[in-house]
Amino acid sequence: MTNSTTAKPRAQFSSKLGFVLAAAGSAVGLGNIWGFPTQTATNGGAAFLLVYLLMVVILGYPLLVAELAIGRYSQANPVKSASAIVPAAFRLPARGLAFVGLLTASAILSFYAILAGWLVGFFASPVFELLGMTATSEWLESTSSTSSSFVTMALFMGATIYIVKNGVSEGIECWSTRLMPLLVVLFLVLIGYILTQDGAKDGLIMYLKPDFSHISGDMIHNAMGQAFFSLSIGACTMMVYGSYLKKDASLPKTAAQVAMIDTGIAFIAGLLILPAMFVAQNNGVAIYDDNGSLLQSGGLVFSVLPAMFGTMGGMGLAVAFVFFALMVIAALTSSISLLEVPVSTVSEEFGLERKKTAWLIGGLITAFSSLIVLNQDPLFDIVVVASTEYAQPILGLLFALLVGWVWRRDKLLNELKQGHPELETGWFWKIWPWYVRVVCPLLMLFVFVKSLL
Ligand code: PHE
Repeated sequence: MTNSTTAKPRAQFSSKLGFVLAAAGSAVGLGNIWGFPTQTATNGGAAFLLVYLLMVVILGYPLLVAELAIGRYSQANPVKSASAIVPAAFRLPARGLAFVGLLTASAILSFYAILAGWLVGFFASPVFELLGMTATSEWLESTSSTSSSFVTMALFMGATIYIVKNGVSEGIECWSTRLMPLLVVLFLVLIGYILTQDGAKDGLIMYLKPDFSHISGDMIHNAMGQAFFSLSIGACTMMVYGSYLKKDASLPKTAAQVAMIDTGIAFIAGLLILPAMFVAQNNGVAIYDDNGSLLQSGGLVFSVLPAMFGTMGGMGLAVAFVFFALMVIAALTSSISLLEVPVSTVSEEFGLERKKTAWLIGGLITAFSSLIVLNQDPLFDIVVVASTEYAQPILGLLFALLVGWVWRRDKLLNELKQGHPELETGWFWKIWPWYVRVVCPLLMLFVFVKSLL
């Protein structure tokens, strides 16, 4: 940890690149390889892709800058950060808002750990298969088994807690720096493979040839939720990461880099998973029901990927092992950012030791995840929809309103100018302040109203 540069002994990321990779590490995760491809396949393919890209640009990016700015300004936990930018009369509501953000991050982690646990199962399964322990290997891959979901979820949460208790730059930065390039390379290799298989072309067409009749209020709402989920906005994670960012980095640039890496990886994941769906179907895996809607949409990726590795013969085991190992690490760099939110807040606000707080809060979230495992239907979907489609966008918006309407303009400008001295004369400062103030709220209102009609 590099504490020496700040008056307060608080951790920071050691370099700008380290921060971008860590923040991109938070953003890149199950949202990219599970959320995005599943949503794209469910919502009609290419048309969803386009609406999603639009959402990233017109809502995700501007709000990402807002959240990072709040965190970096006060270099403190979300509860302190949100109240530091507002005048005294607004302190309590601002603190309340950050507290809801903290609950949202915890709720996201509670379902995230279950999905990531399934990845852990798929990662460990080839090892047991090689050892001849076929029954264990199959048990690990059965996402519908309560016992296996529970064990793998607990393992994943244990790893998350273990990293978070050691603090920000040691734990987070070092994982993210190594992982991202490897992940991209493996994806590209797998895309090259899947496109040689029968059926892949149908997936590509679905993904890249838009049919605009699929656009509806619901679909736009889903795209917005997915963009917030994937960019880690509205759960105070980017606020916390912003608080560890040094003052010499440009926020608009940093946010743009994070958004581009995240969106690029989601796009690549789609290039793999949608064709893989149709290849799997070609090989006899049922992916649509009689009415033409996707079967078990949440679990789709988890049946399609193993099916793809199954077509690779002996190599398949090794490739599956590497693929799922990388996916588990990608999920970990996101889950640690989620756990960091309540842990940093509670330990700083109540003066508790970080290690103890990590175990305590991690334990509580694990208990809640267990409850979801035991009542998967309907609890899983309820938590996913409530946290990603409602809480994240609404909180993201409320943070933007604080930035746009309540934060004193000169102070905001001052914060953004750090690391970006020419900001005041550039186009960003001409557009962004009124954009988050007026346009973002109107856009989101439009999306919510349209999805209700
Ligand atoms: N963005 C992460 C992903 O795509 C999930 C996440 C959401 C992380 C909200 C932090 C906050 O997997």
